[in-house]
Amino acid sequence: MNRLTLLIIAYLLPILIATSIASPESPRRQTARGKHIFEQIGNCKECHLSSQGRIVIPQDSLTEKDLIGLLEKGYGPKDRMAQKPLPQCRLSRREALAVAAYLKSISK
Ligand code: HEC
Repeated sequence: MNRLTLLIIAYLLPILIATSIASPESPRRQTARGKHIFEQIGNCKECHLSSQGRIVIPQDSLTEKDLIGLLEKGYGPKDRMAQKPLPQCRLSRREALAVAAYLKSISK
């Protein structure tokens, strides 16, 4: 690698990192979007609402990272598939983060 290449990399890397970390969305907006996905788009509410109107999800066993993985890829830790009849989720990372934020906001 010549010096110019190294210089270019050294210049671009921080920009790349900064733009991938920086979230243009406020936490409140993200949570609201997660709620919308949960209720309107993912149909999650259909199965995860108790008769008292409370959201029930056995998420205690999942870390946040595993939850996001499950929502994104349809399988959790150690390649455990999403249990039937939970439909395999295929959310984008952005959506998965939003749903995770929403679930976190409603769990105590
Ligand atoms: C067809 C019914 C159904 C729908 C729709 C559904 N789920 Fe589920 N979900 C289930 C069932 C059943 C389980 C497993 C319950 C258990 O393990 O006791 C589950 C489990 C889960 C878990 C825990 C998984 C684990 O391995 O611990 C999460 C998180 C979850 N659902 C989120 C969602 C989200 C987010 C949506 C919407 C994108 C959704 N579910 C839609 C039925 C459904």
